[in-house]
Amino acid sequence: MKVDVLLGLQWGDEGKGKVVDVLTPRYDAVARFQGGPNAGHTLEFDGKKYVLRSIPSGIFQSGQTNLIGNGVVLDPVLFREEAEALEASGVNLKKVLKLSRKAHLILPTHRLLDAAGEKAKGDAKIGTTGKGIGPTYTDKISRNGLRLGDVENPATAKGKYESHRDAHLRRLADMGCPADSETLARMETAWLDAIEYLRGFDIVDSEFVVNKLLSEGKKVLCEGAQGTMLDVDFGSYPFVTSSNTVCAGACTGLGIAPNRIGEVFGIFKAYCTRVGAGPFPTELFDETGKTIRDLGHEYGAVTGRERRCGWIDLVALRYAIMINGVTQLIMMKSDVLDGFDTIRACVAYKINGKETRDFPFSIETGSVEPVYVDIPGWKTPMTAVTSEAQFPAAFKAYIEFLEKALATPITIVSVGPDRTQTIER
Ligand code: GDP
Ligand code: IMO
Ligand code: MG
Repeated sequence: MKVDVLLGLQWGDEGKGKVVDVLTPRYDAVARFQGGPNAGHTLEFDGKKYVLRSIPSGIFQSGQTNLIGNGVVLDPVLFREEAEALEASGVNLKKVLKLSRKAHLILPTHRLLDAAGEKAKGDAKIGTTGKGIGPTYTDKISRNGLRLGDVENPATAKGKYESHRDAHLRRLADMGCPADSETLARMETAWLDAIEYLRGFDIVDSEFVVNKLLSEGKKVLCEGAQGTMLDVDFGSYPFVTSSNTVCAGACTGLGIAPNRIGEVFGIFKAYCTRVGAGPFPTELFDETGKTIRDLGHEYGAVTGRERRCGWIDLVALRYAIMINGVTQLIMMKSDVLDGFDTIRACVAYKINGKETRDFPFSIETGSVEPVYVDIPGWKTPMTAVTSEAQFPAAFKAYIEFLEKALATPITIVSVGPDRTQTIER
């Protein structure tokens, strides 16, 4: 049995959570493979809205196993907050959720190191979510990390925690950002309590769990976090996150062999957004950008920050499709563009007067001039559309244009935030 992967093709917030929730009934398990509480995945149904950070978006459907894989970094305190809120809303989380023993833990001092790292960068700061993601993955790669399996034994957990904390405190002092002892003590108490809470969950060797599911003929959907352009290898480095958000990350983040990968769902907005610093060739600084932000409610699900908005970027999308081996495209938020007379799509970049269709090694601010084609808008409210037969002709033409330019079929179109506002083609 194959594993399908759903991942973002832009700079995150494409709508992954919504579609994972919609697709979950077709699967036996949903698994997160990277990232941590830097993610904010929004689901809307029955008039309610939920934002998930570390917990897979399959949690609201019934019967599926939800797995947090080894590639995820887990903040026990934020996990507890999220889990308790879900339990309060009636989800029997302990029954359906499993956590990898090999997932690395975010310590309170990782968050302090994240803030200190950003401060040290000054104007060159990344604009991280401040959740300690970079420092936790740094510790993992430099072989200094603390994993969930390391704190399963209550007799040794605190000691292990303290030795990691002490190393971090020395690093913070060296960076000129010593930790405030009262604040740290508060964070630490909550963290240790949360570790206790975590022990109440099913902590597993997730690579065996996922491979057993597959050998039993069960279907698994992997849920990406962030987006391809935030991938640490292929994104707009250094303005990226600290994990492999691309399809290959599902293999390393869950222990799945590459020949197990089946469908790769690449999800994108009908326009483009980015939160935090870094290059964004099609960014709009004018009224149009503001209009897209207002109509699309483009504010971060985690930090509340304004998302930068711009036209769809087919150079970046073609690159993301190539890196991930995308087999099907999913277009989100087309309804946000309902009122526009004309929609623009960037088909190439002009860099120093030379046109390129390949995403470049690096992008200096202001050095890229997007080459646009103009497409007539559909000027029809899409939120009430329930089938492809109701698509206005101009909307059909936009889809056909994108499919041709991206050489990949668009099989799902989303026309609103609710579960039901999803059209399959
Ligand atoms: P994720 O991080 O990829 O899961 O995406 P986010 O949840 O951070 O951001 C997507 C936002 O768009 C959320 O507020 C969703 O509720 C909303 N959304 C998803 N699909 C649609 C859509 O088709 N139309 C509109 N208007 N909003 C959508
Ligand atoms: P979802 O899963 C959008 C961005 C941050 C920052 C950079 C590095 O909801 O799509 P980090 O805290 O990871 O070290 O920040 O990555 N970023 C996201 N942007 N959506 C996300 O997740 C993001 N996760 C991180 O804004 O620019
Ligand atoms: Mg998000």
